[in-house]
Amino acid sequence: VDTEVQVTVHADKPGPVIHPEIYGQFAEQLGRGIYSGIWVGENSSIPNIKGYRKDVVEALKAIKVPVIRWPGGCFADQYNWRDGIGPRNKRPMRMNASWGGEDDNQFGTQEFMDFAELIGAKAYLSINVGTGSPREMSQWIEYITADGHSALAQERRANGRDKPWKLDYVGIGNEMWGCGGSMRPQFYADVYRQYATFVHAPSNAPISRVASGANADDVGWTDTVMSVAGSQIDAISLHNYTIPTGDWSHKGSATQFGESEWMSTMQGALRMDELIAKHSAVMDKYDPKKRVALAVDEWGNWMDQDPSAGDAALCQQNSLRDALSAAITLDIFQAHADRVRMANIAQMVNVLQAMILTDKAKMVLTPTYYVFDMYKVFQGATSLPVDVQAPDYRYGNVSVPGVHAAAGRDTTGVVHVALVNLDPHRAETVHLRLAGIAGTNMQGRVLTAPAMTSINTFDHPHIVEPAAFNHAAIKDGVVTVALPAKSLVVLDIH
Ligand code: AHR
Repeated sequence: VDTEVQVTVHADKPGPVIHPEIYGQFAEQLGRGIYSGIWVGENSSIPNIKGYRKDVVEALKAIKVPVIRWPGGCFADQYNWRDGIGPRNKRPMRMNASWGGEDDNQFGTQEFMDFAELIGAKAYLSINVGTGSPREMSQWIEYITADGHSALAQERRANGRDKPWKLDYVGIGNEMWGCGGSMRPQFYADVYRQYATFVHAPSNAPISRVASGANADDVGWTDTVMSVAGSQIDAISLHNYTIPTGDWSHKGSATQFGESEWMSTMQGALRMDELIAKHSAVMDKYDPKKRVALAVDEWGNWMDQDPSAGDAALCQQNSLRDALSAAITLDIFQAHADRVRMANIAQMVNVLQAMILTDKAKMVLTPTYYVFDMYKVFQGATSLPVDVQAPDYRYGNVSVPGVHAAAGRDTTGVVHVALVNLDPHRAETVHLRLAGIAGTNMQGRVLTAPAMTSINTFDHPHIVEPAAFNHAAIKDGVVTVALPAKSLVVLDIH
């Protein structure tokens, strides 16, 4: 059945700029996320650039990763930065108490900061608050950013880096209500104030301080932390994962699922809108001008670990379902661009909803990678409000809006429109009206696949990837789009 959908893009009512950082990434020292996924070392037979996998670096550069959060996650609150500096053959082996296994610290501060520079991303460090100290934090920051002759700057030089790096964000702890130290919000808010006092940035290179925020809908956490420490906070985080079954002990398979879990995953992703609205409303009480950003610095789908992944903790496959749920989440961030100014999908390589999967020398780009590729045109664009009138997509007793849209005008004047059809069975004809612009030229790309469960594998890497989209036409200022079932289309309108 082919029904009609009306979408209006209000180019005449431009909204705030969409911060590039909402397409950010998270890379934790965990499983194969860093080791073998990003870092193989200079002597590896896997082609590398100074120890970083060449294939992974090129793929990440292609999607213009704006910011990377590291080294955790839960790992961060047990991390001693001194373990990861200096000659690599002298670094200590440590237990990875958060995620199992051991960490030989071959990937440390220099490797991370150089990696961020190499792929052109901003650096976001998670500071150890749970088992660390303000002194450790301030010394780490000085080691990275000092340009003078202090002992820490000289130590960095002795370790091979002359000029300071640019450090853009520090997170003061991670999940302080849980793995970061099981703190109550009042206590954490005071601890935050203490640490925030000792974040000393160079005068020409400010560092944004991100407070450890709430889990999902715990608005009480946000309320207390904002009320006690708001004036010292530049951003406060929010973490939310979608578990398809809703049961942490059996989260659901990343590849073997039916329509019920397709639907629950989309419902989980759409919940982000309500969560942002709730936390933002609490923040408005203390910060009506929205100086403080909401940083959704962990989000994504968390499924059961891939049974074939051995000891690669939190490694899961990635399907068309992940792609479309990521697309609608990014649409929500864009719709809240006034408050959400950073987000970091969990995680970059081989962990949770990853962009990239690797196995020894092999690499495959996931469906979610291609969403970030298609959405990179929105980085730094001016958001344009959209109205969508579309039939619901129903499964059993559950229904969600079937078609989702987001739009932005980039700095060259091109308007980009993303359209997502969540219905796995039904194509839609979309009538797209552009209020305030007279587009005459258009090109587009589509991401879809034969099945809801379609994935890319090392042997079949091209099952879910973007293709040129030729089913849209402009006439009298209206774009008519034949939007396939279970698809994402991004149009560029000149
Ligand atoms: O992303 C995996 C883990 O999820 C992070 O380490 C932690 O912050 C969250 O609970």
